[in-house]
Amino acid sequence: MNVLVTGGLGYIGSHTVVQLIENGFTPVIVDNLANSSIEVLDRIKALTDHQACFYEADVRDEKCLEDIFSKHNIDGVMHFAGLKSVAESVADPLTYFDNNVSGSLSLVRAMTRANVKCLIFSSSATVYGEPERVPITEEASTGNIASPYGRSKHMVEQCLTDLQSATPDSSICLLRYFNPVGAHPSGVIGEDPKGTPNNLMPFIAQVAVGKREKLSVFGNDYPTPDGTGIRDYIHVMDLAAGHVAAFQKLADKSGLHVFNLGTGKGTSVMQMIYTFSVACDANIPFEICPRRAGDIAEYWADPSKASRELDWHARYSLMEMAEDTWRWQVNNPNGYTSPRTFSEE
Ligand code: NAD
Ligand code: WQD
Repeated sequence: MNVLVTGGLGYIGSHTVVQLIENGFTPVIVDNLANSSIEVLDRIKALTDHQACFYEADVRDEKCLEDIFSKHNIDGVMHFAGLKSVAESVADPLTYFDNNVSGSLSLVRAMTRANVKCLIFSSSATVYGEPERVPITEEASTGNIASPYGRSKHMVEQCLTDLQSATPDSSICLLRYFNPVGAHPSGVIGEDPKGTPNNLMPFIAQVAVGKREKLSVFGNDYPTPDGTGIRDYIHVMDLAAGHVAAFQKLADKSGLHVFNLGTGKGTSVMQMIYTFSVACDANIPFEICPRRAGDIAEYWADPSKASRELDWHARYSLMEMAEDTWRWQVNNPNGYTSPRTFSEE
């Protein structure tokens, strides 16, 4: 089966492409390289021995998407392409709505014309806003979101929900990721943030490798056991497996399908610092700083629906998330511009 993967050279998309190939699917990748590198394509080949088909294109270019749909017999789409910096979205909301919302509309219009009925969309736990209770189930209310980025995800969810109602034979799956971390256990692909990392794990990794002096811990006065924020960190390999499972189970099952992808376990910032220091066998210098605007004290997923209906479970431990991030960071101190450490034929 041929799967169009938008944003397939990005962090989560690239890990999913590898697992699609390993499971016998043929990915067709569309990425405009806004936040990724063409080097990822060679790394995917090194891991899978398969040269994936790649188009350097923007999902807002509907004509280009139509050409791609007409050239390949696409069975379904995984839509990862989008911008993801919360802070950047506050400073430049229009760019976020254009890229994430208009990009998604352009994609589904091209899909409709090509009669492609299956879509898996990268949504986020951010759509829940501040939850009334944890763990968060898929029935929890959405909205009351703190950032334009989060609202862009919520808007696309709403558009896709309406589209599914209007086209009852379509299969649309909204996957709400909690906090993706980790890297392929080979250390060949991983997360390569441009500039200063916004997220905890890549920041810790850059402190550990000596690229940054210390981590700022954003608040230790939250109503949590150690006062620092609690999140549900999920290994990117588990996330990728969740996409493959969703496609295998739901591609031909019409309806709107909504799933949390998380581990169901909460981890504090201090616990993550400790785990990473064990994984890299060094201290992680940090200082306690004021809370970051918009942060929530704690949230984690109830992933039981994905377990029941997709037969999917997160398998990687917190230590494996730290070890795999560390291996990627050490092998690639400058991300994808680092010399390759894997052998090539
Ligand atoms: P990423 O930035 O590594 O990957 C996104 C990819 O999409 C990049 O390769 C980028 O070049 C590409 N892209 C962006 N805009 C595009 C456009 N208009 N046309 C074509 N390609 C475009 O991000 P990621 O962490 O892999 O996230 C993938 C998806 O999952 C995103 O939609 C993101 O919002 C969502 N998500 C991410 C997280 C997270 O913490 N990483 C959490 C929840 C949801
Ligand atoms: C985790 C914890 C911080 C950095 C974001 C997006 C969300 C989703 C995932 C895309 C919090 C603390 C962080 C640092 C710190 N992305 N922290 N020092 O904010 O839970 O979620 O990424 O959809 O939409 O909002 O993740 O990794 O930034 O923060 O103390 O330098 O680490 O306060 O408690 P977050 P994060």
